Amino acid sequence: MNKQFQNISQQIVDWYKKYGRHELPWRRNITPYKIWISEIMLQQTQVKTVIPYFKNFLKKYPTLRKISQASEDEIMAQWSGLGFYRRARNIFLTKEIIKNDFNNIFPKTYNEILSLPGIGKSTAGAIMSLAYLTPRPILDGNVKRVITRLVNKGIKPIKEKEFWQISEKLLNTKDCFSFTQGIMDLGATICTPTNPTCNQCPLKLNCQSAFKVKIKPKNKKRSIKRLIEMNLQLIHTEKSFLLVKNEEDSIWSRLWIPFNRATMDSYLNRLTHYKNEQISHQLTHRVLDLSINIYKSEKEFKIQTNKKYKWIKKDKIKEYGIPKPINKLMNEL
Ligand code: ADE
Repeated sequence: MNKQFQNISQQIVDWYKKYGRHELPWRRNITPYKIWISEIMLQQTQVKTVIPYFKNFLKKYPTLRKISQASEDEIMAQWSGLGFYRRARNIFLTKEIIKNDFNNIFPKTYNEILSLPGIGKSTAGAIMSLAYLTPRPILDGNVKRVITRLVNKGIKPIKEKEFWQISEKLLNTKDCFSFTQGIMDLGATICTPTNPTCNQCPLKLNCQSAFKVKIKPKNKKRSIKRLIEMNLQLIHTEKSFLLVKNEEDSIWSRLWIPFNRATMDSYLNRLTHYKNEQISHQLTHRVLDLSINIYKSEKEFKIQTNKKYKWIKKDKIKEYGIPKPINKLMNEL
C-alpha cells in the first residue's frame, strides 16, 4: 500500500510540473517570508482573491527586515477587505517574535515555526516543504477532499488522525515542493467540490471515486448562517471620519470602526442625523446585518472615553484597517 501511495505522490509531482499554476506569485523567487505570508493569506481565502493582496503586501513589505518596523495598524491596513482579521494581527505578533527571539531571521525548524501565532500543523508543514524543501505533511480542505476521494471509505468519515497518516504516506522526498503545490492545485482545479474533471486527473486509475462522485444536494439547514446585528453611528465632518479602534474580540477585532450607540448617546443630539444605511454583508460563516446612522458634525470634537479613537482625514483612510462595508460606505459620503 505504501508503494501505491508513493506512486500516487510521483504522479502528482509529474502532473504539477506539466499543469501546475507555476505563475502564482508566491511560487517565484521564493523566500521563507513570502511563503509564510502567502500561506497565512491562503488559509481561509481563495487564490484569486489573495493574489492582489499578496502583491500589494509584498510591494509594501518585500522582506522580513521591511516588515519588522511596521505597526499593527499599518499591517491591518494592508489586510483591509481580506477578512479574518486575526490573521493580520498574528502576522504582526509573529514578526515581533522573529525580531526579538530569532534575530529577524525566519526560523528554520518545524517546532519553532509551529510555535508562532496563527501557524498550525498544516501551515508549518507547507512552510517546511515549500520554503526549506523538507517534506512535511499538509492537510487543508483541498487535500482532505483529494484524500477522501482517493481512498473512498463509503459512508464512513475519515478521522483527523487517519487523514494525517495518509498525508504522511503521500509525502514526496524527491520533490516535496512540486508535490505540495501539486496536491493543492489538484484539489483546487481538478478534484473540485462539485463536478470534478476526473478525465483530466493524473490519479484517475488509482482513485476509488473516479467518475463516481455524486453531488449531494446542499443541506439547507447547514447553509443557514448565523446572524450578527450591529448598530453603529458613523460621524463625519467635511474632511474627516470619527472611528474607534475595536479592541473587543469580535470579527472586526483591531479594526477601526464607527462608535456604537451607547458610547455616543450624549453627543448625538448636537449632530445632524441625515441618513440611515442598512447593509447586509455576507461573511463565510455569518451574515452581518448593519444598521448605520450617519451624522454630520460642523467640527471635530473630543469624546469622554477610555477607548482609542481618531478623527481620520478622508485622504488617510487607506492607512487604517477598516472593514470592507464600512470602507465602501465612507467612500460614498
Ligand atoms: N492554498 C494553501 N496554500 C496554497 C498554495 N501555496 N498555493 C495554492 N493554494 C494554496
